[in-house]
Order: sequence, then structure tokens, then C-alpha cells
Amino acid sequence: MKVAILGFGTVGVGVYEMLENCAGLEPGPVLVRPGKEDRPFKVSSMEQIVNDPEVSAVAEVMGGIEPANTYVTMALNAGKHVVTSNKALVAAHGIELAQLARLKGVSFLFSAACGGGVPFLHNLAIASQSDEILALGGILNGTTNFMLDAMQSEGKDYGDVLKQAQALGYAEADPTADVSGLDALRKIMLACAVAYDKLPVDGFDREGIESITAADVADFQASGLTCRLITSGGPAGESVYAYVEPVLFPANAPECSVVKNFNMARYNGKNAGAIVLMGQGAGRYPTASAVVRDLCGLGALEMLRPACAKVQADNSACAHPYYVRTDASRAGLFRFRESRLIGSVLRGVTEPVAVPAMHALANKIREEGGSIFFAAMEA
Ligand code: HSE
Repeated sequence: MKVAILGFGTVGVGVYEMLENCAGLEPGPVLVRPGKEDRPFKVSSMEQIVNDPEVSAVAEVMGGIEPANTYVTMALNAGKHVVTSNKALVAAHGIELAQLARLKGVSFLFSAACGGGVPFLHNLAIASQSDEILALGGILNGTTNFMLDAMQSEGKDYGDVLKQAQALGYAEADPTADVSGLDALRKIMLACAVAYDKLPVDGFDREGIESITAADVADFQASGLTCRLITSGGPAGESVYAYVEPVLFPANAPECSVVKNFNMARYNGKNAGAIVLMGQGAGRYPTASAVVRDLCGLGALEMLRPACAKVQADNSACAHPYYVRTDASRAGLFRFRESRLIGSVLRGVTEPVAVPAMHALANKIREEGGSIFFAAMEA
């Protein structure tokens, strides 16, 4: 089967190379920007791809919502299977694209959009048909995991580790998506859609790692704690809960052993119990491997089923104690179980707070020009 590739960046090059060595699959034309057609297999017109009868499938690895959405729609309309690594596209238009794929009798798969090389969505799609998924989530962003690990284990500075993650090809084109938690949020949105037929499009809470400092790391490390950026999702009445935030784990937690660009995706099945999948969550070949895995499984799996609908996330029943570092003047906003004042900096652990309330408090403090870092305390 000949596979056209849309985009020839970090992942596109990896997919091309893998397809050259994959039985039953071969690389077809590669769509690049006009003026970049420096090899015979590179083309700059999507029409050339959709009109090529030898191309049966399209791997979209260009990223961004447009023109990716237009091109994927064109490919599906032309009756070609589509596999994508583009979480922004699936989060924004996945339901419509899956409907079109169904209408045309082709597959629309996006394993690579969540977990890099980790076969999370693939397993979730199958498990959700045979089991009740009680909760899901975990470490789903390789860039921030790499950064937190390097800050904590090597004492490195935030700016330096971000540059390193970019140089290694882990970060998004705009790394704000990684450090702000948006990339991880999109992944938990997709996981909820696959597991629960509910794509949360609003109502979630998101905190990244932008406000963490070396002093924060030194402080919780002194208590034997490790920080990871964690996604959480699960059923919430007629809706789902979905949020992203830093979490502090005690030394014996499995999350502490997730280092570098690795991800640790997990789900709890009512019958299967806790399932944990670990592997590289970002980078050329891990992500390309997920694209090619989907290409090998075309026709066998549906990730977004007909019942899938957009919902408003409901995090109101989720609550945790939180580690908080903020300005001393904000002390009255929190009910601390323990706290310490060092100069004008207040550090402490709160009594359990509802997730939306904690995120709203942090937003308020920042809007008023104050400073805060917070992380949920793993029980
Ligand atoms: N920027 C993403 C990450 C790439 O770091 O996880 C893989 O989705």
C-alpha cells in the first residue's frame, strides 16, 4: 500500500524512513511547501496526492489546524485512509473527520497524537469496548517530563532544559503548548473521546510548569518528592472530568521512575484493573512508529465511534491537597494544613481543595500580579 505523507519535519522524515523498510507499505509522494520540492518524491500540490490512484492512505504529520484540516478532508473525500499525529486537529475537528471517514468507508486513526510511541489510544479503543474504564491519564507530555527530570536530577535551569528539549525534537513548534499544559490537555481530551465517546471541549482545568523555579524543586526535593505533569480523566455523571496539573509524588511512586522524554499512560479497567503503558512519548522515531503502527492496522479499529459527542468537562467532584508557593500576602486565601514563611515567600500544603477552585485561585493571584506555583499532592 502506497502512503502519501503530509509534512517532512521531525516526524515526517521518520515515517518516510520507516515506510521504506516496512513490508506491505511503501512511501508515496510527500507534500511540502511550494519551493521545497528538492527531491523527485516531494510535491507541493494536495490535488496531486488525492488524484493519485496508487495512494491508498495519507499520513498527516504537518501539525496545526489549517491547512491540515482541509488536506485531511480532501484525502477522506477521495476515499483514502488517514492516519495523523496531529492532536490539535483531532481535538478541534476529530468528530467531523471520523464521520466523514465512516461515510467514505475508510479509517481515521490517530494513535501518534497521544503518547508518542506508547500505544495508549489503540489499547483504550479496544479496552473501552470490552471493559468499563474507571479512570485514565498519566504522564502524556515528553517535553515537560524531560524538563522536570533534568531540573530535578541534574539541578538544571528551566530555560536551559527547554532549549535542550527543543533541540531533541520533543517540543511542539511553539513550545508554549508543552509548558502550558495545552499539549497534555489535548491528549486527555482525545483519550476521553476514545474511552467514553465524550470529547470535552470546555470546562477543563489546565496548569503547566511555567511557574516552577529551581527553588521550588529544591524545596519539595528536600521532602523526598518528585514533580511530574499529570493528566487526569474519567467519567463524571453524564460528562467526564479532564484536567492537567503538576503533581508531587513520594519516592516510591512509579511516576518517579519515568525519566527523560518518557510517558506513562494508564487506565483503570473495572475488570482489567490498573494498566500502565510506558515508552518514549516524543521524538522522531517513537512518534513515527505510532503512525506506521496505525497504518498496519487500517480497517481493524475505530477510534472515534459514531456516538462520540462534544461535552463540557465537569471537574467539580475532583479535589486534592495542594503544595503551594506564593506571596506571603496571599496566606488568607488558603486553608493550610502546614505552612512556612521565609521572608516574603509562603510555602505550604493545603487541606483538600476542589480542582476548579484551586486553578481559579491561582488565576486570580496571577491576574492581580501575584506569584504562585502549585502542585497536587499524591495521596
Ligand atoms: N510535544 C509533544 C511532547 C510531542 O513533548 O509530548 C509528542 O506529542
